[in-house]
Amino acid sequence: MTLSNLFLLLLISSLFPHSLQYTINPTIDSTLSHTLLSSSLLSSTSSVQKFINVKNFGAKNDGEKDATPAFLNAWNVACNSIVPSIIYVPKGKYLLKPLKFEGICKNSNIIFQIDGTLIAPNDYSEVAMSHSWIVFHMIDGLQIKGGVLDGKGKYLWDCKASHQCHMGAKSLSFDNSKNIVVDGLTSMDSQMFHITINACQDIKMTRMKIFAHADSPNTDGIHIAQSTGITIINSDFRTGDDCISIGPNTRNLWIEGIYCGPGHGISIGSLGRESDEGVVVQNVTVKSVTFRGTDNGFRIKTFSTPINGKVKDVFFLGARMIDVRNPIIIDQNYCPHNSCPDGQGSKIQISKIVYKDIRGTSSSETALIFDCSPKKPCMGLTLQDIKLTYQNKIPQCQYENAYGQVFGFMQPSKCFIH
Ligand SMILES: *[C@@H]1O[C@H](CO)[C@@H](O)[C@H](O)[C@H]1NC(C)=O
Repeated sequence: MTLSNLFLLLLISSLFPHSLQYTINPTIDSTLSHTLLSSSLLSSTSSVQKFINVKNFGAKNDGEKDATPAFLNAWNVACNSIVPSIIYVPKGKYLLKPLKFEGICKNSNIIFQIDGTLIAPNDYSEVAMSHSWIVFHMIDGLQIKGGVLDGKGKYLWDCKASHQCHMGAKSLSFDNSKNIVVDGLTSMDSQMFHITINACQDIKMTRMKIFAHADSPNTDGIHIAQSTGITIINSDFRTGDDCISIGPNTRNLWIEGIYCGPGHGISIGSLGRESDEGVVVQNVTVKSVTFRGTDNGFRIKTFSTPINGKVKDVFFLGARMIDVRNPIIIDQNYCPHNSCPDGQGSKIQISKIVYKDIRGTSSSETALIFDCSPKKPCMGLTLQDIKLTYQNKIPQCQYENAYGQVFGFMQPSKCFIH
């Protein structure tokens, strides 16, 4: 070693102490471990990252060998590392059985970089009994970049169509987690809901692509419940059920730049079916959406049960409707299969709902429906700059127990009790 090389080595080791630590740590030898240079590296050792390739844990990208143990082992190394790590999934197909990525982790900066496709087993029964195919639980600080999830749901949908079958598993669930970014993930053909976010905080999803056949049952795109600070931006949904559905106790939700169709629209609800611990959905903004050929545009739906709660401060801002059956709908008398014991309207109070700048075509004669509860009429509804047509004619607005105001341009013009 020349003197200048020695000097360089000493310099590097003083700048990046972790890099030496890892070269002598035997558990890391099987993983490809290295440090990545970045501009912030000089000021912070926390940007020293561990690089973990699932292939080094035995994952095969042939779509046939079970890669579940390899993924879980890779996760355990990342989760137990005190420095941030990148779990890398190279191109190819990886067969995964139901699996759970568990926290609490020792660092709050794990990156899952997925260049490959994760596929569920062809035999739906291997997944259908689980709550979800892939679960992230108790995680704080995770980024998922890219990746395709193929839930192989078609086998289960066929089963559902022919006889009584399992409800099926969601493809991807985030439970009790926070500070998560998901960017550029595609989910196709989930058995039921594609993605659920439950009891989470501060999750941001961008550039998502969600696909399932228009006739596939219960394949909601993203379902959110018991969560706060969720953001969904610039994403495409083509599903057999709601593109996005919003469940109880959701607050501070921001949804923007969405394409939806086919599908059942963007829905708050159904609320008030079972939980009677107070149902609240508050401060929800849904902005810049294109709906094409969907059953609904913006929907709020509550069961006709005695359960109390509220839906408040909801802003539907900007939508283009293309052949949407119910562009705007509130249904507080929802009661499929006569399942509601008293059946006299919901007790969930809907108030301060703004619909602004909504244009396009309705595929039914009644473009706006406000079917509010006699027990809790809708209060403080606002309609502003609405221009909807039905077969080049002015459509209807149907309203009951609905109180609100109209501003700006309004077609159909007669809506609400003022
Ligand atoms: C409403 O939610 C947004 C995020 O969607 C947040 O920035 C804002 O502070 C919230 N407003 C209130 C009053 O909590």
